[in-house]
Amino acid sequence: MIKNKELEMILETIDLRDDAPTDEPMRQYYFIKKAREIICAESEKLGRCLTADGETFGCQMNAKDSEKLIGILENIGFEMIEDESADLVFYNTCTVRDNANQRVYGRLGFVNNMKKKNPQKKVVLCGCMMQEPSVIEKIQKSYSFVDLIFGTHNIYKFAELIVAMYSSDSMIIDIWEDTNQIVEDLPAQRKYAFKSGVNIMYGCNNFCSYCIVPYVRGRERSRNPKDIIREIEKLVSEGVVEVMLLGQNVNSYGKTLEEPMCFAQLLQEVEKIEGLERIRFMTSHPKDLSDELIQVMKYSKKICRHLHLPLQSGSTRILKAMNRRYTKEQYLELAYKIRREIPDISLTTDIIVGFPGETAADVEETIDVVQKVQYDNAFTFIYSKRTGTPAATMPNPTSEEEIKANFDRLLTVVHKTAEERGGRMVGETHSVLVEESDGSKLTGRLSQNTLVHFEGDACLVGQIVDVKLTEAHGFYYFGKINMQEHCLQELLQKSMKKKLIG
Ligand code: 5AD
Ligand code: SF4
Repeated sequence: MIKNKELEMILETIDLRDDAPTDEPMRQYYFIKKAREIICAESEKLGRCLTADGETFGCQMNAKDSEKLIGILENIGFEMIEDESADLVFYNTCTVRDNANQRVYGRLGFVNNMKKKNPQKKVVLCGCMMQEPSVIEKIQKSYSFVDLIFGTHNIYKFAELIVAMYSSDSMIIDIWEDTNQIVEDLPAQRKYAFKSGVNIMYGCNNFCSYCIVPYVRGRERSRNPKDIIREIEKLVSEGVVEVMLLGQNVNSYGKTLEEPMCFAQLLQEVEKIEGLERIRFMTSHPKDLSDELIQVMKYSKKICRHLHLPLQSGSTRILKAMNRRYTKEQYLELAYKIRREIPDISLTTDIIVGFPGETAADVEETIDVVQKVQYDNAFTFIYSKRTGTPAATMPNPTSEEEIKANFDRLLTVVHKTAEERGGRMVGETHSVLVEESDGSKLTGRLSQNTLVHFEGDACLVGQIVDVKLTEAHGFYYFGKINMQEHCLQELLQKSMKKKLIG
């Protein structure tokens, strides 16, 4: 991320009569300047500012990518709105399960009608789904009104691609199979002023047999720790108090670096950043979660008491077919160790039901793990066949009705255990980062990632306050702010000052 002032100074030195530089990020700065000229001319023609809308599907990685895309759009002169009737709409797609793909096709049908009424409208598709050749073929054939398609490896080229799109009448397609390039120092927009995702690595090398991610996000590559720390320091200087370190498998961070460094070491470096209050990370693969990491978490003052530890299945036989590289017993041992070392931790997980060949007995093994680990929450998915993955060719004799019955059985247990865990902190006082306000009703998050609703002043959004948890309601608490009047006044003043500086 680059500061606006720095970027403006660089842009002033760029002469658009010169050829575009070949090195990055200078090449993109050149195209940002060029795109500004184009968008300014288009706005003058229309007599108003061009508008843009971004629709994001899928995980936090995609949400983070969308912030980068929005950063470019705002920088080159678009006004962002939340309405697909905008002059430019981008769909940042997900393909982890087929229903995500179907939703995108549904949106495209809808936006086609809008484009018929406003032919100047630009429709942009990007993200994981675009890395699949069959998807590109389908779009070319059935959705030829789309103006620009790019994938996951070249989103940093967005300004350059926008220039190409406004200079062409036909569909622009730019998909890369893979990359080892990480381009730093481009503008980005943030959804929240007080918390932010930070990419620490891209791609995945695990090849779980059901998963399309390694095919669409490419090989694992870690960002340089210095760039990560610099980004977080800049975020903190802008008022961010909580960061979420993002990667498909954060536990294998650092393996591809010239000077290898492990995730636990990176966390210790991030912990040192003054002014940063909370550190989260996502996602951990159980096979790579080290004792060192557990110890670093245990003694940390900033790392949140939450660990998302995808189980996928509790059956060792299915785990083997999934290529997860741990057994039921190894997973349980790890979960017990974490609970023993960090008793106040909240554990959440992902589970797939209906993997090829999974029987009711396998699902019983999964239910057994859920009961033993007592997850605070679990995201359960019905297996979705992804073409090109090893699991797609595995025979699946289990009927849809059976899979649905297995899924419902698991869900009942998941809800019951989560509810039992949910009430465990009632009566205690904990710090809460206030995230949203609706009049005098505030919503914040515990270190454990659980939501808390309580009464308070909207000025407290972005602040960490102490809240007494008075009632548990499944996945959230009601609470009462625990603060003496003079402390509250102090916090309100701090928050006003922050806003004025911002
Ligand atoms: N079908 C169903 N769920 C899947 N996931 C990944 N691939 C598939 C698939 N083919 C789930 C896994 C993963 C989460 C992000 O999505 O549980 O952890
Ligand atoms: Fe997919 Fe497995 Fe990689 Fe997670 S670790 S992104 S489930 S291949």
